[in-house]
Amino acid sequence: MAETNPSAAQLMDAAHDAAARAYAPYSKFRVGAALLFDDGSVVTGCNVENMSYGLTSCAERNALFRAVSEHGAERKIVAVAVTNLNGLPSPPCGACRQVLSEFVTPEAMITFLGDDGVVTLPFREVFPFRFHLDAN
Ligand code: THU
Repeated sequence: MAETNPSAAQLMDAAHDAAARAYAPYSKFRVGAALLFDDGSVVTGCNVENMSYGLTSCAERNALFRAVSEHGAERKIVAVAVTNLNGLPSPPCGACRQVLSEFVTPEAMITFLGDDGVVTLPFREVFPFRFHLDAN
C-alpha cells in the first residue's frame, strides 16, 4: 500500500518533538521545525543558541541545512511546520523565509502558531518577494 504524506498536524507534532531538543538557555524560547520533502521524507530541526547571541541558529534553517547535508539539494520542500514550546506565535523569521524560498515548491504550504492559533498558508503568501538572482 502506498504511504501517505504526513498531515500538517503530524508535521506540527514532529516540530514540537524537535523543539524539545532545542538549546535555548538565553531566550528560553524553544523552537522546532519540520520540513516535508517531495519524496515523503521529513527532516526536523531546533534552534541552537550561542552566548554571543548573534551566532544563534534558527530551527527552520537548522532543519534545512541538515536536510541538504544528509540528502543533497535536489529534493523540494512541499510543507513546513514551525512551533515552539512557549505557546506563543512563531512564524518563521524573514531570514528563514529567504533561505527556505530556494527549496520550496510553488505550492508549498507552511503551518505555524499564529496570533489566534495554528494557521496554514501557502508559502508564497508568507513570503511574496524573495531576493533572487537572474532567473533562479
Ligand atoms: N527562532 C527560531 O528558531 N526561528 C525563527 O524563525 C525565529 C526565532 C529562535 C532564535 C532564538 O533562539 C529564539 O527563537 C528567540 O529569538
